[in-house]
Amino acid sequence: MDSQDPVLSDQHAPVTSHQQVPRHLAIIMDGNGRWAQRRRRPRVVGHRAGARAVNLTVDFCLQHGVEALTLFAFSSENWGRPEEEVGALMKLFLGALEREVDELHRRGVRIRFIGERVRFSDAIVKRMALAEAQTAGNGRLHLNVAASYGGQQDIAAAARALAREVAAGRLDPEHIDEKAVGAHVALADLPPPDLFIRTGGDHRVSNFLLWQLAYTELWFTETLWPDVDAGLLQQALDDYAGRERRFGLTSAQIAVEASA
Ligand code: IPE
Ligand code: IPE
Ligand code: MG
Repeated sequence: MDSQDPVLSDQHAPVTSHQQVPRHLAIIMDGNGRWAQRRRRPRVVGHRAGARAVNLTVDFCLQHGVEALTLFAFSSENWGRPEEEVGALMKLFLGALEREVDELHRRGVRIRFIGERVRFSDAIVKRMALAEAQTAGNGRLHLNVAASYGGQQDIAAAARALAREVAAGRLDPEHIDEKAVGAHVALADLPPPDLFIRTGGDHRVSNFLLWQLAYTELWFTETLWPDVDAGLLQQALDDYAGRERRFGLTSAQIAVEASA
């Protein structure tokens, strides 16, 4: 835990507090392949176009004061795609790491990767570690890239970590509660996502942050990821700002908390 971090300082604010702008935005960037296919181009062309939308989204978050952005770039299931597509995605990923990190650092972005990075090539793993080290002191925006990530594998890893503590005699199994599990899943030091966006028209979570999305507001759009622009992101934020987050309580209780 990094208690110096401005993003983290009031993560224990009352759960019912409602921010107009989401502090943490999580996005499934879906629809690259279809975007390319509609243009009769190979799927990789869509992935390339999708990279532009990532830059635009980071800019948007910096402008609007979103404190953390978590992007689903590559799922643990995506390894099963045709070799050619996986290879093209890896090339794009490495290229982006080589090109974009300095500029993100200059803009105060802290970059982190979540997922099973051992599955990537040495060159990519090395670049990931470099990007994290270079930007570790930044606090303007937390950019978390979920790559080779699966929500179930995330929870399983937390269970393994807890089991190790029990086996070492440091933890009583009776003390394993939501807080204990939550402390061991990815992004445990950040507030959970306030708003989830999925582009590309499908209404599912596809093994993204399963634990962390427990009370996240969900927003779906037909727009394909490479077509995303600031206007669309603003629509999602406007929709979010109009929602009442009740966290299991009643509307009346929320009103009391809000006026306290
Ligand atoms: C999302 O776009 C990017 C990755 C999964 C890597 P897709 O490649 O899933 O695009 P569609 O859903 O096939 O259109
Ligand atoms: C989810 O998209 C993963 C990413 C965007 C990286 P998929 O395209 O893999 O999801 P499904 O297959 O439609 O569920
Ligand atoms: Mg898809």
